Amino acid sequence: MDLEQLAALRTPEGVTALATATGLAGGDPLAAAATLRSAGVPAGLAAAALTQAELRRRAAAKFGPDAAGMFFTRAGLEQATRAAVAARRAARLRAAGVDTLVDLGCGLGADAIAAARAGIRVYGVEADPVTAAMAAANAGAAGVADRFTVALGDATEFDVTAVDGAPADAVFCDPARRSAGTGRRIFDPAAYSPPWDFLLGLAGRVPRTVFKVAPGIEHRLLPTGAEGEWVSVDGDLVEATVWSGPLAAAPRRATLLAGAAVHELTGDGTRRAPVGPVRRYLYDPDPAVVRAALVAEFAGTVDGTLADPEIAYVYADTPAPTPYARCLEVVESMPFSLKRLRARLRELRVGRAEILKRGSALEPERLRRDLRLAGTEGISLVLTRVADAPTVLLCRPVPIPEHASPIR
Ligand SMILES: C[S@@+](CC[C@H](N)C(=O)[O-])C[C@H]1O[C@@H](n2cnc3c(N)ncnc32)[C@H](O)[C@@H]1O
Repeated sequence: MDLEQLAALRTPEGVTALATATGLAGGDPLAAAATLRSAGVPAGLAAAALTQAELRRRAAAKFGPDAAGMFFTRAGLEQATRAAVAARRAARLRAAGVDTLVDLGCGLGADAIAAARAGIRVYGVEADPVTAAMAAANAGAAGVADRFTVALGDATEFDVTAVDGAPADAVFCDPARRSAGTGRRIFDPAAYSPPWDFLLGLAGRVPRTVFKVAPGIEHRLLPTGAEGEWVSVDGDLVEATVWSGPLAAAPRRATLLAGAAVHELTGDGTRRAPVGPVRRYLYDPDPAVVRAALVAEFAGTVDGTLADPEIAYVYADTPAPTPYARCLEVVESMPFSLKRLRARLRELRVGRAEILKRGSALEPERLRRDLRLAGTEGISLVLTRVADAPTVLLCRPVPIPEHASPIR
């Protein structure tokens, strides 16, 4: 999509074409194109409308009903922060007293719009002209054009100390983590755009900086004194955020978003959980807890221990309702042997198995095939290591009563 196509989509003719395309999105693309063409829509506009309608349809998973009024590029949508995560971060900035924010590399504006909705005046900077134009259109669609403006330019040259004549209260940067050419994910922070050195320099110069990074970021790379926050949504790890200066409230934080509920666990990320034998209940912590290195803090909430100091399964004597982990009851434990496991599952008439693993090199799908399950019962198999020995735990899920109040 180029600027001309975007402008065409915003004319009355384009708006009608997009509305028609929206009704056809998700169906047969050739038939949709033919329908638009037979309604007299020029080929270029029809193609742009169909692409945009399809992107809006996919974007609903991240943005809900807002997606229907927003503009997207494929790359911009992939990299945009989902609405629930952006809203959470914006609320935290606002609660910390941030009134004005610079968003360096604001993309399509997902974070900026959330901040503007939280009442923050946002100055976005974006290097890509089409993305910048879409961000401005998205600000209008969200009804925050008076609080989120976008400048086209290079974030690394933007003077964050002289925004409307004064320094902004805080600076946010969500660097591009995909290669502009191939679209592949970039894992090396030095290759982010803007690059890691620029972000570190920013954190050194500007008292309140926040940047979003890949959840796989190594802890040792975080600036001294900064908070590393790992965020999951419905059990999927989605991102990490680095909060620096007075915005750093704890060394490490795991934030779990589940529907409207938010659960946060904090700690210093260096504690080690006690080690002991396999016990009756196994807790499989949320990936945000594991990546934030807060397994020991979580284990403390359930009086739990590890069976191996390097493996993040927590064992305890009682099942407790907790938002930070899934709980399974360990029914049997055996040293791993395919033959013995297959024989035992046959005895138990197991026909369905979910397979979890930590600290095991086995491939779950290959194991499932090799087990040749045939039976009526279900089971959870946990492949792990206990006292350095490959071990399989035969488990069943623990139903947590609905009325139980979770541990906080
Ligand atoms: C990950 S996206 C931002 C997504 C945004 N936070 C959102 O949720 O919609 C990063 C953006 O930074 C832009 N960018 C990368 N390097 C830049 C630079 N040096 N100056 C300005 N923008 C830059 C890219 O074009 C891209 O749109």
